[in-house]
This record gives sequence, C-alpha cells and structure tokens, in this order.
Amino acid sequence: MHATYYKTMKNLHDIDPTIANLIFKETQRQRDGLELIASENYVSEAVLQALGSPLTNKYSEGYPGKRYYAGNQVIDEIETVAIERAKKLFHAEHVNVQPHAGAQANFAVYLALAKPGDTILAMDLGAGGHLTHGSPANFSGKWFHIIPYGVRRDTELVDMEEVRALAKKHKPKIILAGFSAYPRKLDFKTFADIAHEVGAYLFVDMAHVAGLIATQLYPDPIPYADVVTTTTHKTLRGPRGGMILCKITDRLDPDGKKNLAQKIDSAVFPGSQGGPLEHCIAAKAVCFEEALHPAFKKYQEHVLENSKAMAEVFISEGARLVSGGTENHLILVDVTTWGLGGKDAEHILDEVGISTNKNMLPFDERKPMDPSGIRLGSAAITTRGFNCEDSIALAKTIATVLKSPADTIKKTAAQEHVAALTKKYPIY
Ligand SMILES: Cc1ncc(COP(=O)(O)O)c(C=O)c1O
Repeated sequence: MHATYYKTMKNLHDIDPTIANLIFKETQRQRDGLELIASENYVSEAVLQALGSPLTNKYSEGYPGKRYYAGNQVIDEIETVAIERAKKLFHAEHVNVQPHAGAQANFAVYLALAKPGDTILAMDLGAGGHLTHGSPANFSGKWFHIIPYGVRRDTELVDMEEVRALAKKHKPKIILAGFSAYPRKLDFKTFADIAHEVGAYLFVDMAHVAGLIATQLYPDPIPYADVVTTTTHKTLRGPRGGMILCKITDRLDPDGKKNLAQKIDSAVFPGSQGGPLEHCIAAKAVCFEEALHPAFKKYQEHVLENSKAMAEVFISEGARLVSGGTENHLILVDVTTWGLGGKDAEHILDEVGISTNKNMLPFDERKPMDPSGIRLGSAAITTRGFNCEDSIALAKTIATVLKSPADTIKKTAAQEHVAALTKKYPIY
C-alpha cells in the first residue's frame, strides 16, 4: 500500500503531522483488518487521486452549461462525462450525479415527488429497510405518513401480495423498494405493476446492489422504476456519494410544467443542496469507467460466489441465516443460534480483526443496540482478491470464534488467520 499512496502524502506530513498520522493509522487499520461490513468497499488509487484533486476548489452551483459562477468550462466537461458514463452503465434516461450522499439523494426524490403528509409505502427498517425509508428518527418518518411493509414470517421474503394489499388500502404517493439488509432479490416488475395499479410513483433505492445491477447479476430496476437512487460507495466501489437516475417523462404528470428529470434536478439544486462536490463527481466518473470494464463483471461474479460460499459454511456450522441463504453480497446471521447476541458477536469478531455490524433481524425480539443478528457482506474482501477458498476458510474461522468465544487458543488462531489473509491480499 505504502509505496505509491504515501508518496503523495509527503506535504501533508510536513504541514499537518497530526492528521497525516491519523490517516496513516486508519489506513493501517484498513490494511490489517478484514472488512465484512456490507456497505463498505475499497476504492482504487485512481478514485483516490480524483478525490484528492484541486477540483475541490471550484464552486459550480447549477448544471453543465447553466452555472451560477464563472470558470466552469472544465467542470462542465467532467460532470458531463460522469453523467454520460452513468447513463451508459445503467441504461438510464437521465442521471443526476450531484447528491452528496445516499441520504441526500433520497431527500431530493421525496422533495421532487411528494409533499409533507403524503403517504409513502416503504420497507420496514426491521425487515431490512434504510433509515431514510421512514424511520421516525429521520426526516422521512417525521414528514411523511409511512406505511411499512415487511417480510413473511415463514420465508423472510418480501410478500408482494402484502405490498399490493397495503398499496390498495393506503393509496401511497410513492412506493419505495430497496434495502440495507435483505439478502435476496426484489421483484421490481411486480412493484411497478402495483405502483401503476394504485397511481403511485415507484422509487427504487438500489444503494447496496448497484454494482451487481450494473453487471446484470441482480434484477434491474431501471426499466421499471420512475426514479432510482444509489450510493456510489458500496458494491459500485466508488467514492462516498449519491446519484439519482430517472425517466425523463413524469408518468403521473405528463403535461406538467416540469418533466420528471427537471423535477429531480431542481430538487437536488436548488431544492436541497448548494454547490456540488466536483472532486467527488470526478471520482464517480472514474468509478463508472472502472465499472464499464469487463473486469468489473468478473469482480461482481466473485462477490456473489464469495457470499454464497460463506453462507453455506455458516449453515453447515449450525447457524440460522435470514431467508436461509443469500442471492446478493449480503448475509444476515442469526447469532442467537450460536448462543450469542449481535452486540457480543460484533465485539468478538472485532477483537480478531474482522469488522461486521450487529443488525436487527425480521421480527427480532431483542433491542436495536443488542439485536439477534450480524450483517456481513462480501464486496470488500472480494476487492482485496479473496476467492471461494479464502471465503470458506474465513467463514469457518468466524464460526469457530463465535461458537467458542471464551477459547483463547481459537481466538489467537483466528487473529493469525486474519493476519495471513491481510498479508496475502494487501490494499493499495
Ligand atoms: C439503501 C440505502 N440507502 C441510502 C443509504 C444512505 O447513504 P449515505 O450513508 O451515503 O447517506 C444507505 C446507507 O447505508 C443505504 O443502505
């Protein structure tokens, strides 16, 4: 990692050794630990270079060709490249690359399509939805009338008949499909059919699975949804940021003063953001270029193989997995089957150098701060170069320490295994 990356940090070391050393420490932590947090990944050095560029100096409120400040000729070119690459990658009619993050992208969509008090049908947080899909702690839950749908108790899969019945009963303005913790595929076509039946917009948040969708390894929401949001930093493996993709025509308001694309754009700016982060937009463009490369499809195939391989080990080690397995990069392990709570499991794994997060499971009777599960994802270890064998070995180590948390010999062996894997697959 150090050779190339740290050469570029010499100035920072001279000017601000405190921050330089903290960055060094965090990079070491990333280098020496294994990242199984499903929302994280490692960007390429090319993405890092774009992020650390003088583009951060420029104010560029507005959009290419229509800026509120002078001097945006080059910035316009950069943002246009990012937009065109994203359109090509996802076969989208219109793209806005300016949202600072996933939450900002979702905020802008609500602003464009709904008014406070409107009804929104979205996946329940406990079933795998995201904070911005209607949590009472978030603006989405405070400003809108949220009707949550969940998963079936027997299969732990989204029940499309429940979604249809709720949509018919509550007539939502928006139906939201998307998740932070759901290990299976979503049926976007049926979501769209239901939205059309009740006169709602279909809004898909594909943040977790965007990389799998870009490579046709997960159902594609773009043909069906009115609007799709994503983060760029999870399976898509780009910089931290958000993006909105949408149809140009507003299906529910075809003759309105603004079409859907214009509504989305003005909800981002000036509706909810000021100047875009053009260094980050350039880094998004680099990420899209990387994702358009055939090697990215291979990478995503390995992401799926590795998560399936780990899931099979957990099952053979006696754990219960939510929905019994995985069809994406995510695995939800019910650690109570190993006699633990999610909080302890997260802590035990952290002690041996494996990062995961505790997670509520569907119908969880435990509390959010100590739920029944942990969530694991295969995107970051696959970026490091893990193959199936490595993933199987890692899953066995995870099962071993979680099944015998008091066994210090097993814990030491796990630490050594993590050290060997991180050495075998360095980052940067
Ligand atoms: C489905 C989904 N949407 C939105 C977000 C929010 O993204 P950000 O953290 O960039 O605001 C997340 C983050 O984890 C997510 O999982």
